[in-house]
Amino acid sequence: MGKDVIIACDFASAEATFVFLDQFTDEKPFVKIGMELFYAEGPEIVREIKRRGHKIFLDLKLHDIPNTVKKAMASLARLDVDMANLHAAGTIEMMRAALEGLTREDGTRPMLIAVTQLTSTSEDRMQKELLINASINDTVVQYAKNAKEAGLDGVVCSPLEAGMVKDACGDAFCTVTPGVRFADGDVGDQVRVTTPEKAREIGTDYIVVGRPITAAADPVAAYKRCKKEFCG
Ligand code: C5P
Repeated sequence: MGKDVIIACDFASAEATFVFLDQFTDEKPFVKIGMELFYAEGPEIVREIKRRGHKIFLDLKLHDIPNTVKKAMASLARLDVDMANLHAAGTIEMMRAALEGLTREDGTRPMLIAVTQLTSTSEDRMQKELLINASINDTVVQYAKNAKEAGLDGVVCSPLEAGMVKDACGDAFCTVTPGVRFADGDVGDQVRVTTPEKAREIGTDYIVVGRPITAAADPVAAYKRCKKEFCG
């Protein structure tokens, strides 16, 4: 599995996204498209970024009954994204259905990864509101094991959870981690952050980096620095 830096393209419009991407002339970064951009611009934004030669992680975090998720995933497979995701909370049955939907007739499919517990969910709220009577760490590990049992490729998790997930699910089970900041950079609203170098030491496979690149004075230089520190 190749280690890579995925740029979170958290822009409100196609126009802003292309102004950003046009700055990259000699490389085609792996990009993440989230709900904001996808709901604003629709599937055409995915097709256009694909046409420009980028790999795409479509971060729509599906969570519904198995049949609905299966059919939605079939639509995403036709869009030719490279990575898609869903909520592990939808159960193993839902994750299996998602994989089936995502698999094309020729047997190929995008990578499929699961969100375990959102990093915005505190242990206190998870226990009191969701009535999950366990620690956040145990829940994350259990959801990761469920994702592995369903046949998924990995999970999205905080860098601090990546080691636990690898211990429980094995090294080949992929971890995708946001919350990355340069050692000398702004933390912004992220709380539990790590540097690209530290993420490499932890053994994460992909880091998702937004503002340290998108809001940099020189985004291409920031991307190259990130690649160098993470991929070596
Ligand atoms: O700008 P920044 O580097 O904080 O962007 C991180 C990206 O990763 C954003 O798109 C954010 O929504 C996403 N993300 C996150 N924490 C999670 C899950 C996703 O920061 N737990």
